[in-house]
Amino acid sequence: MTSTGAIRCVRMEPVILVHGGAGDIPDSRVRPKIDGNRNAVQAGYAVLQNGGSALDAVEAAVKRMEDDEAFNAGFGSVLNLDGEVEMDASVMVGSDLSAGAVTVVKDVSHPISLARMVMERTPHLLLAGAGANKFARDQGVPVLPKGALVSEYAKKALEEFKVRGCASTEIGEKNPGDVGTVGAVAIDARGNLAAATSTGGINGKMVGRCSDTSLIGSGTYADNDIGAVSTTGHGESIAKFCLAHAIIKEMEHGKSADKATNEALAKMTEKLKNTAGAITLSRNGEVGVGFTSQRMSWAYRKGGEYHYGINKGDHNVEKIN
Ligand code: GLY
Ligand code: GLY
Repeated sequence: MTSTGAIRCVRMEPVILVHGGAGDIPDSRVRPKIDGNRNAVQAGYAVLQNGGSALDAVEAAVKRMEDDEAFNAGFGSVLNLDGEVEMDASVMVGSDLSAGAVTVVKDVSHPISLARMVMERTPHLLLAGAGANKFARDQGVPVLPKGALVSEYAKKALEEFKVRGCASTEIGEKNPGDVGTVGAVAIDARGNLAAATSTGGINGKMVGRCSDTSLIGSGTYADNDIGAVSTTGHGESIAKFCLAHAIIKEMEHGKSADKATNEALAKMTEKLKNTAGAITLSRNGEVGVGFTSQRMSWAYRKGGEYHYGINKGDHNVEKIN
């Protein structure tokens, strides 16, 4: 907040906060995720620094991670049992609670941008499967050749899943599941909040499985009067607990972003015996980060500082000139 002469201008310090998935992240994926989060924060912060909106910032950050094979979203998404990529994404704006989402969408590079189009160009909240793909074509979104989003890594993870039969949501050599959903929350200089989340879902999932990431209140939430949240982790548990909105409710009842995030996550894990993570911004730009999984990559930029971590207890801070 700054004051200029007699006129008092209220101006927020912009913040962008991202995650690259919660879970049992294998060591080989740690560096790619830390680097990928940094690129995403840079993309989002550049928007905010140029006076752009929180919505544009979260979309830019998530798109960067959808393009990055280190994350389970867009290119490099995990595969369903038929060996295909089916993706989910959602976005929400805190000023008027507008929101949009897609689920089980195929062959588009940026599901998050399609979710935004659902928000801005349709009377609906969530488009699914063939309908979402028809909408993409109608909007002129380029359709990729079949299989273009399938990485070699994801193929190996599915093969391993079929042998070992473990179902989780990231890909790595130790465990072909685990998690890697991506998300971003931001507050812009005008105090507007936005949240965005995108995922390839769970490795070896049934064809047509929808995730928490496509559900407003579970994967994503933003309300300028309270805060903004993006979640990651075991989708079925997050959806049953309405995790994003549970965190919002805790904040509405007076808890800080960090306390609300960590307490809601602990409750979800206690009740449902599965793990998750979340990133949260309050309406004042306070940051909350939490995960009950072994790891979650996260990072944010506020003013001249870049903060990041991936292991429990990590909180690295770098000064940016
Ligand atoms: N949280 C994302 C998923 O389970 O697909
Ligand atoms: N891909 C599942 C998650 O990270 O939530």
